Amino acid sequence: MLQAKTIILGVGGGPLTSAAIEVLRALQRAGAGVRVVLSAETEAFVPALTFRSLAAGDVLMPDDLYGRMGAQDFHSLRGLVRNADGLVVVPATPALIAKAAASWADEALVRAMLLHNGPTVFACAVRAAEYQHPLVQQNVQRLRDAGVTLCDAGVPETDDSADELGWRMASATVVEAVAASLRQTTVLSGKTVIVTAGPTQEPIDPVRHISNASSGKTGFAIAEAARQRGAEVVLITGPTHLQTPVGVTCVPVRTAVQMRDAVREHFAAADVVIKSAAVSDFRPATVIADKVKKEDATLSIALERNPDILAELGALKGRRVLVGFAAETRDLLANAKQKVSKKDLDLIVANDVSDPAMGFASDHNRVHLIDAAGRIEPLPVMSKRALAEAILDRVQAVLTQRQGDGA
Ligand code: CTP
Repeated sequence: MLQAKTIILGVGGGPLTSAAIEVLRALQRAGAGVRVVLSAETEAFVPALTFRSLAAGDVLMPDDLYGRMGAQDFHSLRGLVRNADGLVVVPATPALIAKAAASWADEALVRAMLLHNGPTVFACAVRAAEYQHPLVQQNVQRLRDAGVTLCDAGVPETDDSADELGWRMASATVVEAVAASLRQTTVLSGKTVIVTAGPTQEPIDPVRHISNASSGKTGFAIAEAARQRGAEVVLITGPTHLQTPVGVTCVPVRTAVQMRDAVREHFAAADVVIKSAAVSDFRPATVIADKVKKEDATLSIALERNPDILAELGALKGRRVLVGFAAETRDLLANAKQKVSKKDLDLIVANDVSDPAMGFASDHNRVHLIDAAGRIEPLPVMSKRALAEAILDRVQAVLTQRQGDGA
């Protein structure tokens, strides 16, 4: 199941630390090479020697690395993390979950997680009552939003059932979660994904423009999630205040025409194009060279049509998977369905932008997905990161089917 894969096992410290020994063995049985990073608390529960003897010396101790990590130590940590296919934390205690969510990198285990740019699984070992606490749930959500898979293998049904020797973590469940997170990456690994994001700005004069409302958050979340699934990502974005996700190639543009040219330039190499940008359909017919003065009581601006980038791509798409967005204020599903067929899309994300609580600047969204066959799938309210994952799941399904068809 994990033949020739390299997995980093981060071992937390708590009553379920011994489960990490079983997980280590189960990962090795599944064919993985395992490198171990111990947390500051591990040895209070299980001696480091146990892991050293099982992981053929590939074990990093917290002592030398704790906090004040010198250049040499950082080098060894980087060496250990390099080229790893996945990382799993067992047991993920509330303290480790909180540290990771805050990227509080005062120990090697958290630093390893920050350096590892791939699938990451937290096998939670948290008592039921604590797990439900809103602060723990917020940390869990933060990790999910960063693309981490949370597996509940060590969350007991009730805390009574966790007493004495009754609290266990099934290693098979953890290994399956690791394998699933790696499978998720393989379909998009090495594929090239173009994501467009943000608004375009169409200049009126040197200081004014017309534009669409768009924060760019959804597009940036998709770019980050696709990168974490192993894709080469080109993010072509209009002006936003967002930070480019690590490992993503960013092509900043301003106008719709610039966005079209950038998309066309990268289109030949692309396997997937996701057009989340809010493109201005119109631009001023002429850009006034000097700043317009306010002497006149009124001002008319003649507008002309911008290219419909997505429709142009639909005609050229070949085997590529094409995803569009539809921002509507009424007749959401009918309008969105029409765009699927008109622009020859594989999927459209239909977004009712009349709800002020959702969309644009919000961190959450509620959308419907519509596929090429016109099947409608309503999604619940979810974070933009979770939406990104849902969209990529559907994209992967289309890619897999297309590969199967040989189409
Ligand atoms: N789009 C595009 N080029 C444009 C306008 C839109 O590529 N000039 C893309 C958007 O990125 C989005 C999809 O088309 O993925 C739908 O955008 P939307 O503004 O909802 O619809 P339009 O196609 O512009 O249609 P209308 O404005 O008539 O609703």
